[in-house]
Amino acid sequence: MTKAIYKVGVIGGGTMGRGIALLISQKGIPVVIKEVNRELADKSLRSVHEKLDLAVARGKLMSDTAEVAKGLVSATADFEDISDVDLVIEAVFENLEVKRSLFSNADKLINPDAIFATNTSSLSISEIMSVTLRPDKFIGMHFFNPPITMPLVELISGQRTSEGTLCTVENFAKDSLGKITIRVKECPAFLVNRLLMPYLNEATFLLTDTCLSVEEIDQKAGQFGWPMGPFLLLDYLGIDIASDVAGVCYAGYGERAKPAPLMNKLVQLGRLGNKSGAGFYVNDTTKQFESLSVVLEKEYSSRKSVSIDDGFRRMMVGMVNEAFLCLEEGVSSADEVETGCLYGIGFPMALEGPLHWAEKEGLINILKDLKRFEKECGVRFKPAKLLEKYVAGRTRIFESW
Ligand code: 3HC
Repeated sequence: MTKAIYKVGVIGGGTMGRGIALLISQKGIPVVIKEVNRELADKSLRSVHEKLDLAVARGKLMSDTAEVAKGLVSATADFEDISDVDLVIEAVFENLEVKRSLFSNADKLINPDAIFATNTSSLSISEIMSVTLRPDKFIGMHFFNPPITMPLVELISGQRTSEGTLCTVENFAKDSLGKITIRVKECPAFLVNRLLMPYLNEATFLLTDTCLSVEEIDQKAGQFGWPMGPFLLLDYLGIDIASDVAGVCYAGYGERAKPAPLMNKLVQLGRLGNKSGAGFYVNDTTKQFESLSVVLEKEYSSRKSVSIDDGFRRMMVGMVNEAFLCLEEGVSSADEVETGCLYGIGFPMALEGPLHWAEKEGLINILKDLKRFEKECGVRFKPAKLLEKYVAGRTRIFESW
């Protein structure tokens, strides 16, 4: 049985929390941001108001819609103010113990009929839900950054999520928020981040292992049709966030998902991306960050010469191989892989998704390249058994081809 969602609480007023509240308020639904103290609550609310004003100024939003949204969004430091919501969406930083302790506390203070959703990008839903007395009303609801623009919401049921909870949240995401949803089997990093990571990780490996530059790789990705190159995207998302997801993939999938060392190095240098003024690019020249090419020259002096076509091919075949692993493990269907990539990470619409692209390139050629890259770079390119099977059996992924 599904239920209606009349009021939402968003726990955590950082980038994603604010973005989710911005979206919900524009859809005419009351939403309360819960922060740890009054100062942070006020800061989050101010930021949502500023985004609404900016959207009006940029012609993205009607001014009366913005005014209505301002009236529907509020922020608090007190759990009491979200005790009566129908849905809680948690969007605090990625730490399992922090999320578990937060939900254990919220369980006692919030309406026992309310559904709890976590916007975790990679952590185990089952492990988080186990601390609550309402595991049947607990679900993973993963938005993509920026939530107002990215059409996808990934829904991840934990071991004890009920069908009613899944359907309620699915209806809410589709009908009330206007999103496209996919249902994904629980696994580290779920579906879309799991597919994105090999691509971003490989781009980062290319910088330390080869002479290819940030600009060359981003430009090539733009020519392919991606809305942002991998480094623009990493700076936009936050390299600390990407590094956390990479860590979860490494813990879950082992050596083949080993994070590129440069990601962690940049985090150590305080280069977290746009939010800190520098990441792969330097966008705040007042803070005296070195250009990344200087860092690379100092730390990684023996880099090989590789063509940009070959480098970019590594990124793309890594993503395709991961998609085959997901199909093999029953994480999702081929159609959901395509939907997830088109609407969650802006895979070029004209190419219809990584599996359509792979099929057009020829699965046999993808396999050949994976084998070649495995010899050159190691286990991260070990071909998925399902891909080998498809090539051996000349099987097509999509019937209509
Ligand atoms: N209200 C408020 N703001 C609005 C708005 C509205 N109704 N409509 C648009 N905007 C804002 C957007 O948020 C954006 O703000 P920003 O500059 O602060 O990001 C700005 O107006 C421009 O929006 P547009 O719709 O015009 O979008 P653009 O054409 O400029 O493209 C982009 C921007 C959508 C970010 C595009 O470059 C893109 O798709 N990039 C890829 C993003 C991506 O891949 N995201 C997913 C990453 S993975 C992830 O998030 C998972 C996590 O777990 C790590």
